[in-house]
Amino acid sequence: MAQEDVFKKIVSHCKEYGFVFPSSDIYDGLGAVYDYGQNGVELKNNIKQYWWQSMVLLHENIVGIDSAIFMHPTIWKASGHVDAFNDPLIDNRDSKKRYRADVLIEEQIAKYEEKIDKEVAKARKRFGEAFDEAQFRSTNARVLEQQAKRDALHQRYADAMNAMDLNELKQIILDEEIVCPISGTRNWTDVRQFNLMFKTEVGSTAEGASTIYLRPETAQGIFVNYLNVQKTGRMKVPFGIAQIGKAFRNEIVARQFIFRMREFEQMEMQFFVKPGTELDWFNKWKAYRLAWHEALGFGEENYRYHDHEKLAHYANAATDIEFHMPFGFKEVEGIHSRTNFDLSQHAKFSGRKIEYFDPELNESYTPYVIETSIGVDRMFLSVMCHAYQEEKLEGGDSRVVLKLPAALAPVKLAVLPLVKKDGLPEKAHEIMQDLKFHFNCKYEEKDSIGKRYRRQDAIGTPFCITIDHDTLQDNCVTLRDRDTMEQTRVPISELRSLIEDKVSITSLLKKLQ
Ligand code: GAP
Repeated sequence: MAQEDVFKKIVSHCKEYGFVFPSSDIYDGLGAVYDYGQNGVELKNNIKQYWWQSMVLLHENIVGIDSAIFMHPTIWKASGHVDAFNDPLIDNRDSKKRYRADVLIEEQIAKYEEKIDKEVAKARKRFGEAFDEAQFRSTNARVLEQQAKRDALHQRYADAMNAMDLNELKQIILDEEIVCPISGTRNWTDVRQFNLMFKTEVGSTAEGASTIYLRPETAQGIFVNYLNVQKTGRMKVPFGIAQIGKAFRNEIVARQFIFRMREFEQMEMQFFVKPGTELDWFNKWKAYRLAWHEALGFGEENYRYHDHEKLAHYANAATDIEFHMPFGFKEVEGIHSRTNFDLSQHAKFSGRKIEYFDPELNESYTPYVIETSIGVDRMFLSVMCHAYQEEKLEGGDSRVVLKLPAALAPVKLAVLPLVKKDGLPEKAHEIMQDLKFHFNCKYEEKDSIGKRYRRQDAIGTPFCITIDHDTLQDNCVTLRDRDTMEQTRVPISELRSLIEDKVSITSLLKKLQ
């Protein structure tokens, strides 16, 4: 099946099974805004819990905060967002559709890479076991031709972005003959800058009101609380502050479902270090964050680092962790070495001294910062994309199953009485009464057992138990495993110990130690 079709199926599965709904659905939705349903919110909370515990629980020198969304407007002046938080936009005159010029060019680069990958895949099929990929890539004429085109475009694009040369960005789009996906034409306007922050007003009267912004990142809430946390927590450098919260960006090109939203959630951690040690810490955090992703078991081949061509003027290193989505490798997380830019700017704009007195050096300095920043919604999407599978079963049957890591699954155990009578529902409730304190259980009695299993597969429930007439005699139930579909008879008294470890966040956290 084409990857586009798979993605469409994932989007409709998310709606059909209560994971993600379009916002304001009965009013036909609101562009690039989504609501999480009864299963989505559980999965999302589990992702957040996994992140929070890996940061705050596992690191003695990291603490959390929860800062407000509204902040003093000068913060956004100091951070550079008022002047420079822009996207380069371009319109197609025929379709009247608006695009990000940088995204159009990045998609063109990805097309060259896809062509190379296709050649490699074809050759691998042809040569079988004897295939030497490295040699093929360095000698095959078609691969070399595409690689040269890709590298030249990449360099030209990086130069244009570094210089923020809007005319050059347009020229690249024209030279590469990039067409509008809707109209199919190359009738492009000039490239313009567009600020992504949402504005609103605080104050009751028009005269007394002042303009404030909805935060476009949670990071600034951490920087402006650096002194509060360092002093009240008596934190010693190196230390980190973690935060999970909503962020808002007026994304013009909002596509690909929850990949790019106007209201989304971030999990950010700012790690304050001694100047000069930041690149060591940058590498440590890069490795740790990749390990966090890989502990989910989606396969190392589905991740890659993407080092930034265009470093923000205050950064001295930056990389993205990309995940293989159905629409290509895409950024899920950014790791940035932000120097002392943010703290210095806030010191300058607030007039406060924002420093750290290092007792070992007997001197004060402005700490440098390593940031790890991951979007909850993008992480959610990557989990869904990897988990969604359509399986052919013996006997010609098929099923849709979400192979979610058990620790992230919305429901851990489905409790299913075989029939709705003969005391089986009562026995099922009795079992739930005990287990519900330890993990999320769901009781279901409607429809045949087969249909109920399918429904649980579709929401990724790792375990189901069936209570039958024998249960009333032997106090045993049938435990069914989502992935293998194997069924075993187990005593009710052993259920908790059989399931709890496998479905707990701790099982993931232990892989990080
Ligand atoms: N404080 C740094 C920062 O905000 P960013 O690369 O702009 O960096 C970090 O954003 C992460 O937030 C991204 O890797 C992505 O996962 C998520 N993100 C950014 N914009 C988003 C959007 N419009 N919709 C969903 N997630 C978004």
